[in-house]
Amino acid sequence: MDTKVFEEYESEVRSYCRHFPTVFTKAKGAYFYDEDGNEYIDFFCGAGAVNYGHNNPEIKKKLIEYLENDGVMHALDMYTVPKREFIQTFEEKVLKPRGLNYKIQFPGPTGTNANEAALKLARKVKKRRNVFAFMGAFHGMTLGSLALTTDKSSRGGAGVPLENVTFIPAPYMFPELDTIAYMQKLLDDDHSGIEKPAAVFLETIQAEGGIRVFEIEWLQKVRKFCDDNDILMVVDDVQVGCCRSGTFFSFERANIQPDIVTMSKSIGGYGLPLAITLFKPELDVWTPGEHNGTFRGNQLAFVAAKGGIEYMLANNIESEVRRKGEIVKEFITKEILPLDERLELRGMGLIWGIEFEKISAGLADKVIEKCFENGLIIEGAGRKNSVVKLMPPLVVEDETLIKGMEIIKKSVTEELAKL
Ligand SMILES: Cc1ncc(COP(=O)(O)O)c(C=O)c1O
Repeated sequence: MDTKVFEEYESEVRSYCRHFPTVFTKAKGAYFYDEDGNEYIDFFCGAGAVNYGHNNPEIKKKLIEYLENDGVMHALDMYTVPKREFIQTFEEKVLKPRGLNYKIQFPGPTGTNANEAALKLARKVKKRRNVFAFMGAFHGMTLGSLALTTDKSSRGGAGVPLENVTFIPAPYMFPELDTIAYMQKLLDDDHSGIEKPAAVFLETIQAEGGIRVFEIEWLQKVRKFCDDNDILMVVDDVQVGCCRSGTFFSFERANIQPDIVTMSKSIGGYGLPLAITLFKPELDVWTPGEHNGTFRGNQLAFVAAKGGIEYMLANNIESEVRRKGEIVKEFITKEILPLDERLELRGMGLIWGIEFEKISAGLADKVIEKCFENGLIIEGAGRKNSVVKLMPPLVVEDETLIKGMEIIKKSVTEELAKL
């Protein structure tokens, strides 16, 4: 295994590769392969970017056909067939059946780009600069989104003050605190010192924050709070959208309609870069080119994105995620939690976190390293990275899912024995 060129020439900013020190060659479904011929089960899934599996064969066929026909590869935001077909498919197969009426914007192709667009739009519509976000949130690394992101190390890289955001304690932090009443007080109290926000930004399941699932009733109350106070509700579905939670949009379980929704990662179908910002039509106050960019709407990603939606529907991915989620919950509850009574489990659909904080935060990192040695790619999340985060591709076979969890069990057992 030769990693010298990376270590010598690639910036110190590189991160995930430090947890998985090998050189990968191939990936298929829920598996990765490296140069030395090792096979790994993938429970990281490109941080949620390959929900439909690595090199999904049905989507691949469409991509190859498009390439062989010399389809347009770059067109700025000009009209192309792949863009038309993606918009039509998204409108007819995703939005309409859910009773959702959104306009679609293609910002730059990453999650943070989608949030930057949402942020600018909300501020422009409401003519207010402040925004509410929740402690534990992760919304991206560019300056606007970074101001909404909470972890110290990410914020530390900004180099300038990150402003115009008020962080509200997430409901799990102080269960006795009514966060909705708290937000209302911030608005009503003329001595609160807090400016009325243009929007409330949230993930319905804080992923990087440690797999914190927000309750349905609380999400509904946030919706009502926004309605009552003329504030926009923005849901960041970058990581837990595209069926990860068991429904296409993560907010469906609360039966609410956010004003703005952001998506990236698996919306690109095949691990290709694509992001979208969805908003209610009356919010479309952009002037032409006001939020511009060269790589807005990757043509190949449009082909894959349409393919991803078709694949998702043909294979009942939403209900499959819910079924597989029960397998995960049962296995961890019966096989892993009993290893130490201080372990905790949180999650839904196919995003789960095992919390190690009560034993020692550093233990999660050790388990992650051990899992890699044992043939499983898995990452951490949460405060002090104390959570082992399970996020397999949604197409993972039941057998592979169980095999991966057996590796976690073995790795936790080995690391607990060292304490
Ligand atoms: C909820 C959420 N929002 C935004 C982002 C940023 O996406 P990107 O890394 O594509 O900029 C992420 C990335 O993990 C995320 O999890």
